[in-house]
Amino acid sequence: MASKRRLFSTFRSLQHDNPLGLPRSGTPPSFPRRRGLPEKRKIRDVKKVIAVSSAKGGVGKSTIAVNLALSFARRGIRTGILDTDIFGPSIPTLLNLSGEPRLDDNNCLIPLTNYGLKSMSMGYLLPQPEPSPSSPSTTPHESGRLPMDTTPISWRGLMVTKAMHQLLHSVSWGPLDVLFLDLPPGTGDVQLTINQEIVLDGAVIVTTPQDIALRDAVRGFGMFQRMDVPVLGMVRNMAFFACPECGHQTKIFSHGLHQHDHGNGNGDGKGGEREGDWGVLAECKRHGIELLGDIPLDARVCEDADRGVPTVVAEERDGKSARKEAFVGIAEKVAKKVGIEW
Ligand SMILES: Nc1ncnc2c1ncn2[C@@H]1O[C@H](COP(=O)(O)OP(=O)(O)OP(=O)(O)O)[C@@H](O)[C@H]1O
Ligand SMILES: [Mg+2]
Repeated sequence: MASKRRLFSTFRSLQHDNPLGLPRSGTPPSFPRRRGLPEKRKIRDVKKVIAVSSAKGGVGKSTIAVNLALSFARRGIRTGILDTDIFGPSIPTLLNLSGEPRLDDNNCLIPLTNYGLKSMSMGYLLPQPEPSPSSPSTTPHESGRLPMDTTPISWRGLMVTKAMHQLLHSVSWGPLDVLFLDLPPGTGDVQLTINQEIVLDGAVIVTTPQDIALRDAVRGFGMFQRMDVPVLGMVRNMAFFACPECGHQTKIFSHGLHQHDHGNGNGDGKGGEREGDWGVLAECKRHGIELLGDIPLDARVCEDADRGVPTVVAEERDGKSARKEAFVGIAEKVAKKVGIEW
């Protein structure tokens, strides 16, 4: 009986005089009108949102985002960090956090907190590797490093957008004074979704002194400019290497300085510098962006990141730490630019 009914309906549709509904008259078919770009929204309960970005990978966006956020949080400013890198989330490692976030009554994700900083990351939502008996699943991990996860994230298109939406709109931040967004590299889907859907109060662009990184950083700057997002300034990461033994500063990457201007001949890495027509300073001037500060290339910054105690926390009590002061100095400038009391 059932098969008869199916046969009948198929037959009917074939018999229909216009089964596909193609237009008969000369008037063109009408499609539902394409809705315009989604309207920009504020993230609920968050006063200011600041993106830390660079179109270049591996220049230190996550390291700088987390240290800036912690500079705020450690001063008692209500701060969060959202890891928008779906394919390579770094925030769980940097904050030494793991575990599946709980949902509140509105089905919103409750952030995980360490060092007084609230955080959300795709890394918390993915299946976690089995904890070894010696490192029970505590949050944060007191026992050292997080277990490594081998699960690849091979999503595309809609799934990425859906995940992004959840992270942007379904996190219960509670009242925050400022939320930092750690962006993935590039100027692709994720960056566009964020720029189109979220009211950003500013963007901090990260670069290294090297020309190859700077070119991409400038490209990223152009994206924010076109989207009417104020660029708060540029951070030059790995600006120089300070020898831990003697303090001598070496500029590892080229700086856009004229050949004969390198150093003053005293070997102190200072003086005699004349800015060429390229380099971070020159690009900042060209585009009217402020250079917010330099972060030294220092093995301790890297070690702090790997053990999940970012430099601003690791060296909190060290009044002379140049590395910590570099991050805090930039954070203060950012705060002033977006109108947060420091
Ligand atoms: N100033 C620094 N001194 C020493 N190591 C650093 C410094 N800044 C970043 N690093 C190290 O460089 C590597 C890349 O940094 P990070 O992950 O922050 O870059 P990213 O721009 O976020 O990368 P991605 O594009 O993959 O998201 C990390 O190993 C980090 O610890
Ligand atoms: Mg990163």
